[in-house]
Amino acid sequence: MFDTVAVVGATGAVGTIILELLETRNFPAKNYRLLASARSAGQPRTIAGQTITIEELTHDCFEGIDLLIASTPDDTAAEYLPSAVKAGVKVIDESGFWRMNPEVALVVPEINPEAALNADGIIASPNCSTTQMVLAMKPLHDAARVKRVVVSTYQATSGAGLQGNTDLQQGTQAALDGGSYDYQAFSHPIAFNAIPQIGSLKEAGYTSEEMKMVYETRKIFGDDSIMVCPTCVRIPVANCHSESILVETEQPVSVEQARELFEQTPGITVVDDLPSGSYPMPSTCDGSDDVFIGRIRKDLSCENGLAFWCVSDNLRKGAATNAVQIAELLAQHQQ
Ligand code: A2P
Repeated sequence: MFDTVAVVGATGAVGTIILELLETRNFPAKNYRLLASARSAGQPRTIAGQTITIEELTHDCFEGIDLLIASTPDDTAAEYLPSAVKAGVKVIDESGFWRMNPEVALVVPEINPEAALNADGIIASPNCSTTQMVLAMKPLHDAARVKRVVVSTYQATSGAGLQGNTDLQQGTQAALDGGSYDYQAFSHPIAFNAIPQIGSLKEAGYTSEEMKMVYETRKIFGDDSIMVCPTCVRIPVANCHSESILVETEQPVSVEQARELFEQTPGITVVDDLPSGSYPMPSTCDGSDDVFIGRIRKDLSCENGLAFWCVSDNLRKGAATNAVQIAELLAQHQQ
């Protein structure tokens, strides 16, 4: 049982779901504190029967907090989380800023729980597009060692925060009305479009979102030899990221074996019956905590290759659910 748990970014798209999950999963906390920017300070929120006034995040607000779960923009996490660690707080961070820092644990509890349990600083939760892919890779890697992954993502606008969904709705309405719309979260119209750029140009023609999938995958599995070739695309879907994943393994894995391995993995649900039109879609996975897999088939272009389709709620397992699962892991091992 934690005495005081704080949620930073409690007003955001992910923060709101973190509050819901802490309540519905009966997280073992006596008290909650909710923090956000000065814009939201003073607003009330309810969690686990307690009505709590949102406080402004400052460098000296951390006293008395045992565990902090943060979901904020990267620059906020960069500026404030070291002060929390200095104040002796256990920190779980959803932002992208700390993930690749060698001092920081990057954790998906189904894959590398020990990294969270051994951490003394910040524990980071991976990028949403990485989390669903690595969970899908996990049973294949354990059984046959994954050598190479080619992944194309179809990412929802909610991945760009609340503003992303405002842009989708208002931009679509404006397009239908024949008017114009000034997009805030995207550099091109997202209505009736697909944008093959998420993040900024990083290296070798890849974007920052794509390179996160490369580096975070290797860090989570502790295996720098895994090769990943990603293409990340934003599509006009409000919530749930979809991914077309091609995996090449060292040992052969049949389609039947792969289906069985996926079915046995906690956190994965297989929905796979092409003849009846049964496969995961954003519309059917929205609001679920699992990673959904379908269209499992042999990669016809590669000897030890498998192809499949993977959908997950990017605000849940891709963000809030993974962070809360890390918190639950810490709670289970609390001394
Ligand atoms: P606020 O609502 O007060 O701006 P989203 O990703 O959905 O946009 O949410 C981002 C979250 O991070 C929000 O809760 C937002 O609070 C919070 N946030 C943004 N900037 C800061 C900041 N400088 N200090 C504290 N919280 C911040």
